[in-house]
Amino acid sequence: MTVLVIGATGKTGRAVTRALASRGIAVRAAVRSADRQNMAYAAGAQSISVVDLETGAGLTEAVDGVDAVYHLAPNVHPDEAAIAGRVAAAAAAAGVGRFAFHSVLHPDDASMPHHLRKGEAEHVVRAALPRATVLRPAAYHQNLVEAARSGRLAVPYSLDTPFTNVDLDDVAEGAATVLTRHGHEGLTYELAGPEVLSVRDQAAVASEVLGRHVTAEHVPLEGWTTGPGASLPEQARADLLAMFTAYDRHGLVGEADTLRRLLGREPRTWALALSPPD
Ligand SMILES: NC(=O)c1ccc[n+]([C@@H]2O[C@H](COP(=O)([O-])OP(=O)(O)OC[C@H]3O[C@@H](n4cnc5c(N)ncnc54)[C@H](OP(=O)(O)O)[C@@H]3O)[C@@H](O)[C@H]2O)c1
Repeated sequence: MTVLVIGATGKTGRAVTRALASRGIAVRAAVRSADRQNMAYAAGAQSISVVDLETGAGLTEAVDGVDAVYHLAPNVHPDEAAIAGRVAAAAAAAGVGRFAFHSVLHPDDASMPHHLRKGEAEHVVRAALPRATVLRPAAYHQNLVEAARSGRLAVPYSLDTPFTNVDLDDVAEGAATVLTRHGHEGLTYELAGPEVLSVRDQAAVASEVLGRHVTAEHVPLEGWTTGPGASLPEQARADLLAMFTAYDRHGLVGEADTLRRLLGREPRTWALALSPPD
């Protein structure tokens, strides 16, 4: 079996590639530029297709002969629905048997425009491929692991609102399951972690697990806008500011039972993500 993984040099694409390769599945990695193909090979890809998601160049060749496609969009991309449409149409035209789309938790949350674009992309995918599987992951534990290890969780939103972050390797394992086993066609799965933790709670757990003090700090929005957010394209900055405001109001919370069933075990906790077993 061969699976085409879109965005295979990125954080999610590499995790999905690793999960498929560990099951002995051949991965064809769709990369934007051959310059970065070594990242996909290092994750376990067996072959490479150069694809430009913004124009569709290379897609017909990339889907040719594969059994399944894992589609994800570049982070906060303004044209996500059109990209999903191109990838799904190419897969449909090639008669690809299975298709999974990496969406997001709560794609109907109107306070976050980039979530709404994921919802739109889901509709576009389902219109082309009614049997596609949709995965809706919560925020990843891994977004904050490096910061926790550096001793400082500094975020531009509330330290006290609730999150059910999920382990990226659990999401990738779930993706590998829906791409390689029957029974998931046409279904939508919310993938959230097993604990409800605020950033302040995460800092406390990290202090305990790592054996040294990890601080939780609120960065004012203006500090983020003129700091890390300054180099982003305007729309990406606006999307993320809307997300921080939504996180301030209600965090991001989902249910873990679907992931538990999909994995056949307890999803990984924040403590495990910080200190994975050897
Ligand atoms: N982070 C989270 O907590 C989270 C949670 C739920 C859902 N998601 C969703 O997961 C998705 C992937 O996120 P990520 O963090 O894995 O993203 P990422 O690390 O930025 O990876 C994006 C991938 O897309 C590729 N790409 C970008 N523009 C392209 C183009 N024009 N043509 C072809 N490939 C292109 C990138 O290639 P290069 O390596 O060449 O740049 C990279 O491989 C996003 O849609 C995000 O919303 C994320």
